[in-house]
Amino acid sequence: MPMVSMRQLLDEAAKGGYGVGAFNVNNMEQIQAIMEAARETKSPVIIQASRGARSYTNDRFLYHLMIAATEVYPEIPVALHQDHGNSPETCISAIEMGFTSVMMDGSLMADGKTPASFEYNVEVTKKVVEYAHARGVTVEGELGCLGGVEDGHGADLDALAHLTDPVQAIEFVERTGIDALAVAIGTSHGAYKFSKKPTGEVLVMSRIEQIHKNLPATHMVMHGSSSVPQELQDMINNYGGKMNPTFGVPVEEIQLGIKNGVRKINVDTDNRMAMTGAIRKVLMEHPEHFDPRDYMKPAREAMKQVVKARMLAFGQAGHAGDYEPIPLAEMIGYYKH
Ligand code: G3H
Ligand code: 13P
Ligand code: ZN
Repeated sequence: MPMVSMRQLLDEAAKGGYGVGAFNVNNMEQIQAIMEAARETKSPVIIQASRGARSYTNDRFLYHLMIAATEVYPEIPVALHQDHGNSPETCISAIEMGFTSVMMDGSLMADGKTPASFEYNVEVTKKVVEYAHARGVTVEGELGCLGGVEDGHGADLDALAHLTDPVQAIEFVERTGIDALAVAIGTSHGAYKFSKKPTGEVLVMSRIEQIHKNLPATHMVMHGSSSVPQELQDMINNYGGKMNPTFGVPVEEIQLGIKNGVRKINVDTDNRMAMTGAIRKVLMEHPEHFDPRDYMKPAREAMKQVVKARMLAFGQAGHAGDYEPIPLAEMIGYYKH
């Protein structure tokens, strides 16, 4: 099966009342971990690459690994998504390469740090929507800003300072024509989201309910959705790592979001931690090992287990065979209506 449009994956998820995990990748083992988890759970899935991932891999390598994924796992509907595109140029280059979905993150300026004005956000997002929809490609926009900084991306704001305004969201969706809306509800990228198990004061799930009431047909996206489980923190720290105590987004809160219109859930940090914990364990227990396969194989397996658990929790498991993929060329017609 060719890579599919993210719009189709999300429309199907809305029909079925489930969410779809969007997992970040930077290398072959991560793509394999996700595709194996998708096969074992029969899940449609979104694989996403940040700008950092595209530059780390030299994105043609990444693209061809994705082609290999569609050949080896023909039964799995998979979308390839640009995560946090910082400018229309970044999104256009992803579309030209064959990505089936892009995020135009106009909540920040092109430096990926400075919060942007609403008018700037509308302008750049609309520009990407026009270009992308003419090619059948999906667009995610973001209104409001997440906290924290990851690999230079992010405003390093107090996560509560720029929550999505549910009324402004209506105007944003209407004026841009986006397929999916990333919302800011108090989460941050990376491992250090909350200093204790989050309550509704810091993880403002009520915003999701309000936005869903205002925009019942819009697919919402939760960024910064790693759960940062204690066992992964322990795995890293027990094998020589130094992570400070921290809390992520509990899976049950994500499930509440899914009941209220969240269809795409972004997870990167949990997978990074799973791989790093597994690698640390092998190298601590076997200091004599030096074949990268000795630690990459357990790392890939550890990531697969995390992705499988999320696929089951988000409800996408079992849905891979529900529908025939609509080719991007046909999606062009979908957007003309
Ligand atoms: O948005 C953040 C994702 O975790 C990607 O992070 O920019 O370090 O690749 P990155
Ligand atoms: P985490 O850092 O919580 O995994 O979030 C990833 C993300 O939002 C990618 O866009
Ligand atoms: Zn993100």
